[in-house]
Amino acid sequence: MEAKRWVLAILSTFILAGLLVSLLVHDSLNVKYSYMGELKNIFLSVVEEGWSSGSNADFVGVVLSPNLTTCHKSLSDADRPVYCCPPKRDSEEPFIDFQFPDPSSPLRLRRPAHLVDADYIAKYNKALSIMKSLPYDDPRNHMRQANMHCIYCTGAYNQQHSNSLLKIHRSWLFFPWHRMMLYFHERIIGSLIGDDTFALPFWNWDAPDGMKIPNMYMNGSFVDKDRENSHLPPQVADINFDYVESGLEPEDQIATNIALMYHQMVSGAKKTELFMGCRYKAGEEGFCDGPGTIELAPHNALHTWVGSTLNPERENLGAFYSAARDPIFYAHHSNIDRLWEVWRGLRGNKPEIIDPEWLESYFFFHNERQQLVRIKIRDVLDITKLRYAYEKVDLPWLNARPKPAVPPKIARHILKVRDQQHGLQLPSNTESTEFGPEGQTLDTTIRAKVHRPKTRRTKKEKEEEEEVLVVYGIDVKKDMYVKFDVYINAVDETTIGPESREFAGTFVNMRRGVRLVMKEEDAVGKKKSNLKLGVSELLEDLEADRDESIWVTVVPRGGTGVNTTVDGIRIEYMR
Ligand code: C2O
Repeated sequence: MEAKRWVLAILSTFILAGLLVSLLVHDSLNVKYSYMGELKNIFLSVVEEGWSSGSNADFVGVVLSPNLTTCHKSLSDADRPVYCCPPKRDSEEPFIDFQFPDPSSPLRLRRPAHLVDADYIAKYNKALSIMKSLPYDDPRNHMRQANMHCIYCTGAYNQQHSNSLLKIHRSWLFFPWHRMMLYFHERIIGSLIGDDTFALPFWNWDAPDGMKIPNMYMNGSFVDKDRENSHLPPQVADINFDYVESGLEPEDQIATNIALMYHQMVSGAKKTELFMGCRYKAGEEGFCDGPGTIELAPHNALHTWVGSTLNPERENLGAFYSAARDPIFYAHHSNIDRLWEVWRGLRGNKPEIIDPEWLESYFFFHNERQQLVRIKIRDVLDITKLRYAYEKVDLPWLNARPKPAVPPKIARHILKVRDQQHGLQLPSNTESTEFGPEGQTLDTTIRAKVHRPKTRRTKKEKEEEEEVLVVYGIDVKKDMYVKFDVYINAVDETTIGPESREFAGTFVNMRRGVRLVMKEEDAVGKKKSNLKLGVSELLEDLEADRDESIWVTVVPRGGTGVNTTVDGIRIEYMR
């Protein structure tokens, strides 16, 4: 790394020398100024990309960040043009670098939305009505806040140094970007009512008492008429919603929800990538489409569940471009943000990702003083430094390890017999189950026998390497909502759900305008996605740990798979 610094220093010397020579040769002022400009740019980008402060001081490379001069029309989830850019380009404003709040300033305590009191609701209500009445020119205006989300979720900005669009869903940007958005939003609200202790509430949908739309969102400025009527309280939320009503009784719905939470937070999230999402890097090739467990569900599922079926894209919460117009968005994301903290705590608070391309990625937000602030992911990894905290609440899902629907011995026997009859038999030693060059359409349930390269691993080996079931090459042909569930060794997947151990995970695609670059001819730069499901613990519980193969069923939900194909299924190991 030292060497890179030297290269930079030598380069800079050459540039300086070049500048001097050119000044001697030309004495035109124009030339001089344009050289000055260039020189400044070169130094700026060196400082920006190479000599950043902190432990990655040696990092030289391109990070994900928006090019603020590019804000342009973008596409809604259903490919309708939307425009959410600020009235005046952010690039025309000076920006400041993020500074941590004063460590002696009060800690804002975020509490469950169903437990806050009337005074708090009144204060927040007042702040929201002020926010809604501010002129659109003011970045603190409620619609402007909502449009920040629209900008970054529909790809209204190109990336710095490339014409690829920048998007913040379905990858490792998901958690930190939303944390930033909430951080500024919360402080704006507090400042509008002169309360520096104001904290957003969280929608505690992972606990039975919080599993419905919190009542506070039914009154005053919290009302959004664009919500699905039949899902208003006291309807229990289906946090794994798939467009089709589950029809479960409240107790059963709650039990299913708790089991899903266990799966998404514990057994399915043993490795960083499984929870945080895939590594999205700068540049055209860098895009990845692999959301973490919580982003897929409950996050995506609840967006859809709350949004109104009367609107074309289930606006407001059901479509990303409009989602943040509903005040409940902030409580939904506050819970997501809290669960990131909880997950981190469960693994001993060790840093989740140390890759500088993640740490140094940066975005821009307006603060409560209407200043444009540049903030990096590394700035938002310690919430105490950000001066907020979450009230400790029970984690009813923490030990809710589900039981198999059918005793494993019986299930494996039935499956073996069926297999011999229907010939799901694999040629021996196939590393993956491939569905051919066209892939297999998800218009119906896919059944496959999948080979396991390693069996009988020790406890230590399992801790080091998580066994991961990969449904690869998922191609959502038309940008549409798609959901499918994956089961292992299920005798009858039509009668079970996340409450059964056979459930290995879920895939949810929100519609989101798939185009990644603005130029028409580049529109095909879309990538297929992979669903990665951590299954080590699940295979133990299904007593399948010694088996050389498992039976996997991929079940499309609510007829959403007709335009989706899958290339195959395989087992991988993740460190
Ligand atoms: Cu950016 Cu819940 O979406």
